[in-house]
Amino acid sequence: MDTILSLHSRLAYVVLTILALAIINGFWGLIGNRAFGARDLRISLFGLIFSHIQLLLGLVTYFVSPYFSAWENGMGTVMKDATLRLYLVEHPTTNILAIILITMGWSLHKKASDSRKKFFRIAVFYTIGTLLLLSRIPWQNWP
Ligand code: HEM
Repeated sequence: MDTILSLHSRLAYVVLTILALAIINGFWGLIGNRAFGARDLRISLFGLIFSHIQLLLGLVTYFVSPYFSAWENGMGTVMKDATLRLYLVEHPTTNILAIILITMGWSLHKKASDSRKKFFRIAVFYTIGTLLLLSRIPWQNWP
């Protein structure tokens, strides 16, 4: 379905922008030695929520994508073709892992009692997660 594919494609801008803002805010708070406040919580939470929405949308995208039918030709066909491998294997698995890391960053920041640790955990985990996302974006077709 075109609507789902284009929604997944457009939401990617929102997700990556919010994650970038949460990361900058995290490092900024760390460098500035600030107290972790409501605004910091909100931006980190938005990063978490939007990446989870994108994950769910990605799962739906997977099954409605025209690439999906390539599985009918077997695992070998998919793995030998770089484009199919990217869309059907690398992009989904890497992005699921990336979102697990982002979720871990969020949970670990909640467990931390001091502000420096909170900023550090958000900044580091969100950065690793976002780098993983960026590593498997189909850049030849997007933006
Ligand atoms: C935050 C996580 C994710 C981001 C930022 C993201 C981003 C993108 C982008 C930018 C595209 C290219 C869209 C286009 O060509 O216009 C794409 C395509 C695609 N994504 Fe994701 N994605 C994410 C997670 C996922 C997950 C978890 C899955 C599957 C489980 C998935 C499945 C797909 C598929 C199958 C396509 C190809 C759709 C098609 O053109 O037929 N994505 N994604």
